[in-house]
Amino acid sequence: MTWINACATEDIAPEDVIRFDHEGRTYVVIRDHEDAFYCTDGLCTHEDVHLCDGMVVEATIECPKHSSIFDCRTGEVETPPACENLRTYPTRVAGGRVEIDL
Ligand code: FES
Repeated sequence: MTWINACATEDIAPEDVIRFDHEGRTYVVIRDHEDAFYCTDGLCTHEDVHLCDGMVVEATIECPKHSSIFDCRTGEVETPPACENLRTYPTRVAGGRVEIDL
């Protein structure tokens, strides 16, 4: 595994999300209501809309365009119109930093 330093834990408020770009790809880093962190692909699987503009509720993220909801832990679609799950990436917190394995 290669852990990549994405941001500080304090860069993301509880139930919020930030965009993280790395080597030409875009991701989101999400903090849930219990201060757990997740990383998924940054674009909705329905159309290429940036999920960083979406809304995080507990451990789900809602796409800002057509309101598909994804489970941040698994990437699974909970609400259509998206039908393809989001890809997720291992995430850990170390020394106040959020690290992801891409
Ligand atoms: S672009 Fe995300 S649900 Fe349509």
